[in-house]
Amino acid sequence: MILLAAVAGSAALALAACSGAAESETSDSAAGESHTLRLAINQTEDYPSTIALTSFGERLTAATDGRWSIDVYPNEQLGAQAEALQLVSDGAVDLAIVAGPQLENLNKDFVVFNLPGVFNSDEHEMAVVNDPDITGDLYASLEDQNISVYGGFTAGMRGVYTAEGPIMVPADLAGMKIRVQETDTMVRMIELMGGKATPMSFGEVYTALQSGVIDGAENAEPSYVTQKHNEVAKYYSYTNHLINTDYLVANTDLMASMSDEDQEVFRTEWETTLDEYMAMWDESIATAITDAEASGTIFTNPDQAAFADALAPLAAETITNDVQQKLYDDAIAAGK
Ligand code: GCU
Repeated sequence: MILLAAVAGSAALALAACSGAAESETSDSAAGESHTLRLAINQTEDYPSTIALTSFGERLTAATDGRWSIDVYPNEQLGAQAEALQLVSDGAVDLAIVAGPQLENLNKDFVVFNLPGVFNSDEHEMAVVNDPDITGDLYASLEDQNISVYGGFTAGMRGVYTAEGPIMVPADLAGMKIRVQETDTMVRMIELMGGKATPMSFGEVYTALQSGVIDGAENAEPSYVTQKHNEVAKYYSYTNHLINTDYLVANTDLMASMSDEDQEVFRTEWETTLDEYMAMWDESIATAITDAEASGTIFTNPDQAAFADALAPLAAETITNDVQQKLYDDAIAAGK
């Protein structure tokens, strides 16, 4: 209910502006029924996933002879991730990109892929989170909540950025309020790293940094720059404490309403979307670094081992059942 009340604001207005229907927009054309799927994402238009998803929609339209299209709504226009996820479950929004911590709030087993140290590179992460042998049961587990998970993009290796800085060792974070994504695991992560965690949605971070409500945040370079956080937090420290995943989620009933043939096309084009994303990803990091440096960001290399040591207890504290342990072991094995 609280979530629904929160949605009543901007997201509801945006939805009303779309079509007012609680399902994918449907219209008839000479070629038969055509459906436009609404996809919610919190990134800007120029972020690599927004670009790759827009092209996903174009390819889907072409490959289904116009039966299925995607309208991408960037910048939290359909709500921040927690709200967008609820709207997908309700069927008011068809597709969304949500980060791992949001899924952990629906099924705790997702926590494994949100743990520091589980992935050693973006490529390792992509190989695990898009391997059906490892993730099949996990991704199917949300279908009783009407959410289908298709796989994910790397959101990159994260550093900590602060207005006053730099952060070189965990003690430098003492007393600092650092924004995290909204889960207990992320709160605990920052506590172990030496800081005080402040959970909030992505779109609130710029103003919180600017006003001094928080002292810093943590993310990869492309998010740091596309969100303009470099304007209000000049010290970016390569703590490399976490790699996050952005999952594609869809309303399960809606996907079941597609013909088998169109579902197959959807999956194939989604696979291509992952490749397109990865083809842009490294360059988007390089561009972000160049842009940030030009705007005065100071990048530093802290004592990464000190942060890894501080975070070492988190996996043992967090993993509480055999399913999680197997996911963890499979993920680690895939990185060797
Ligand atoms: C990254 C990620 C987003 C996530 C954000 C955050 O930018 O791609 O999906 O919402 O981090 O920290 O909230």
